[in-house]
Amino acid sequence: MIRWFTAGESHGPGLLIIVEGIPAGLPLSEEYIDVHLGRRQKGYGRGGRMLIEQDHARIGSGVRHGHTLGSPIGMNIENKDWANWTEAMAIEYVENPSQEGRNRRVTRIRAGHADLPGTMKYGFDDVRNSLERASARETAARVAAGAIAMRLLEEFGIVLRSHVVAIGPISAQIPDTIDWDAVEESPVRCSDPEASEQMMAEIDATREAGDTIGGIVEVIAENIPIGLGSHVHWDRKIDGQIAQALMSINAVKAVSIGPGWEIMDRRGSQFQDVIEPVTDPDNPWQRKTNRAGGVEGGMTAGMPLVARFAIKPIATLHNPLPSVDLDTGEPVQAHFERSDVCQVPPAGVIGEAMVALVLAGAFMEKFGGDSIPETRRNLEGYLKTVGPRRVYQ
Ligand SMILES: Cc1cc2nc3c(=O)[nH]c(=O)nc-3n(C[C@H](O)[C@H](O)[C@H](O)COP(=O)(O)O)c2cc1C
Repeated sequence: MIRWFTAGESHGPGLLIIVEGIPAGLPLSEEYIDVHLGRRQKGYGRGGRMLIEQDHARIGSGVRHGHTLGSPIGMNIENKDWANWTEAMAIEYVENPSQEGRNRRVTRIRAGHADLPGTMKYGFDDVRNSLERASARETAARVAAGAIAMRLLEEFGIVLRSHVVAIGPISAQIPDTIDWDAVEESPVRCSDPEASEQMMAEIDATREAGDTIGGIVEVIAENIPIGLGSHVHWDRKIDGQIAQALMSINAVKAVSIGPGWEIMDRRGSQFQDVIEPVTDPDNPWQRKTNRAGGVEGGMTAGMPLVARFAIKPIATLHNPLPSVDLDTGEPVQAHFERSDVCQVPPAGVIGEAMVALVLAGAFMEKFGGDSIPETRRNLEGYLKTVGPRRVYQ
């Protein structure tokens, strides 16, 4: 079983991460995790903070001489911006806090953020107490945890990637074979060069209007063994777990496995992914199509796992919406603080991390093992059993 936790406020001293359940002997370095943290920070449409941060995950436990020990892996990511927030976000008690600039109490509630429900639920009289943890800064911690899960999956040949399908009204033409290098080079993480240009123009126009814009992202995981997850109980279904994991990303409002809503115009005979006769014992159960997105009955079906999610345009607007004041209930303009115009490109990297954490959890549940060689033996033993029953066993 893999368990993981994150802690940390957006402008506090930093983020803390613990990942438990990774077998011993997995090669792992801070550089590997930092590559994924760097990918999260890029993307056309991000705010000024990304120029300050350049995240680095410092591993403090669970790794020795470049390999995991099987013990909990603890990491921290410093918030470089903390230097500017030492009073506003001080850990220790502050007598008569100053009410200047960023130290001022936040009372101008933003619609579409955690501001109102978080402040009511926890009994705060300063919206900052809820907005700090609700901020997507926390997703850097998820990407660090997810990088460890990706490293584990990679060790067994499973690869995860993501690309942007749409930003605002601009949709990409998705080729049969995606050029992943082109996706990484595209400032909007889109495989269609023409759509990439149009998406950037759309982001520019949105920024000029003082507004924000959302979109759709797809995560694809390849080479997953058949049978991760289970049909036997609702909370063990892998599609349910992935939906929860992706929906938990800040601002995500819809999740689908495979093409989701788009398949509704097909009849059953046009929808199922027909199983091909087995010709290769090492590669049985092939399909020509993958409309199920790689999941049947809550289990991986031996095809690529494809999950899509839609992200709403973010709530903090340069031209703030009308709102009300927390103290008086009277009309004011909503709070503004440095903010992204479009967070769709980095959301793909966060989506990869979340899917990786779910898949790594299901992988360890199925194959277990306290060390990488033990897990590998279990996987290889299982793979020998998954061909046609009469022919190959
Ligand atoms: C990568 C990423 C960056 C984000 N950046 C911002 C931002 O700069 N400003 C903002 O108001 N919301 C931002 N959000 C969205 C908010 O965190 C989110 O809307 C808020 O937590 C409320 O959650 P909800 O939209 O799911 O209801 C971002 C989300 C993601 C995934």
